[in-house]
Amino acid sequence: MTVDPALVPPGLHALGTGDAPFAAVLDVAELPPGAMHRISRGDLDILLAHTSQGIVAVDDRCPHMSAPLSIGGLDGCIVDCPLHSGRFDLSTGEPVQMPTTGGLDPDGRYHPTWSAAGLPPKEDPPGKKAEARRLTRVRRIRYYPVRIVAGRIEVAIPAQG
Ligand code: FES
Repeated sequence: MTVDPALVPPGLHALGTGDAPFAAVLDVAELPPGAMHRISRGDLDILLAHTSQGIVAVDDRCPHMSAPLSIGGLDGCIVDCPLHSGRFDLSTGEPVQMPTTGGLDPDGRYHPTWSAAGLPPKEDPPGKKAEARRLTRVRRIRYYPVRIVAGRIEVAIPAQG
């Protein structure tokens, strides 16, 4: 199996991965297509996802409010967050569905709150919480370089302080 380096979108490497050493984290056989797995090193939580375009390693923190994406769902390259239904494309790092709370997209454009089909409209009374939701920016996903060596998935993990 090879990992397409193009899967890491330009400019979206996680902080500190430039010269980080690779470490074996999981057998490839333990991450079949469509599977996700969380690994933790120190206080760093990383999501391994076997997408339709290969294996990627990203922060296991939703780029909205940090919920663990590893307990969400994976469909092709799209991971969905269990907390506010945000959906993110692991092949691009971009949100494909903003969270139900709305807020700012990575380019700073505002999106209103929304409700899933069949549910009543979301109430969003004015106040500090509504303002916080409105000003919360959904970031682009950040990636850790991945390689496969002798049947093991290796990830470049920055040193933990
Ligand atoms: S924390 Fe993931 S969509 Fe809000």
